[in-house]
Amino acid sequence: MKIIRVLVVAVIVGLGVIAGFIYSGLYDVSATSPHGGFTNWLMSTTMNASVQRRAKNLSVPDLDDEALQLAGINDFDTMCAACHGAPGRDPQAIGQGLNPPAPDLAESSARRTAAELFWITKSGIRMTGMPAWGASHEDEELWPVVAFMTVLPGLSAEAYQSMLAGAAGSGHHAANGDSHSHADAEIESGGHRGEDHPGQDQADNGEKPEHDHSSHSHGGDH
Ligand code: HEC
Repeated sequence: MKIIRVLVVAVIVGLGVIAGFIYSGLYDVSATSPHGGFTNWLMSTTMNASVQRRAKNLSVPDLDDEALQLAGINDFDTMCAACHGAPGRDPQAIGQGLNPPAPDLAESSARRTAAELFWITKSGIRMTGMPAWGASHEDEELWPVVAFMTVLPGLSAEAYQSMLAGAAGSGHHAANGDSHSHADAEIESGGHRGEDHPGQDQADNGEKPEHDHSSHSHGGDH
């Protein structure tokens, strides 16, 4: 009996210490303070297990389709590259301050299945900067981005740029006759950027493309 009393007191004291720490403000929530090894392990292990479990039974369309991949690169460039970077291009200002950082998607794509890439893109990752694109996009609008990510590993900066140039005006929205097109948005905002900031690939024009993109094509009318 004595042992049980000691255990109960120890648990109560332990919970008190944890609560005291939580309310004390000692924990540094700033995005500039690095996670410790244990927090990193806890977050990435929980995330990976959750993603693998949920992506397991997804049915994946045929992604080995050049038109789909071309449609996807436009959306990738407008929606993802600001945080994740692209071949030959660092993340922009918004992506540089993220903690956890947005990883290089060429490496992620080499490691993950297409179903996992799709699930993450659609659902986002809670408590990180990774948005749930499914909140504003249909599945058919996200698969092209996944199709593009499957060819991303090993794509050189030059190959990326020429593929992007070849994709101008294409995009699955445009192909469907949908005027609400990422490809259109890219052309509009690209022209706009060109006037304001010659050399639109410079990292210092940071949030602008994101902003343009959201006002042109994600204005809530999806
Ligand atoms: C606002 C910044 C931001 C944008 C924009 C963004 N992401 Fe992310 N993304 C993140 C962050 C941060 C993580 C890391 C989350 C983590 O470590 O758990 C991430 C993680 C991911 C992962 C998991 C990578 C891995 O190796 O586990 C995938 C896949 C991904 N993003 C795809 C995309 C795609 C596709 C787009 C565009 C449609 C996109 N992201 C746009 C911030 C962003």
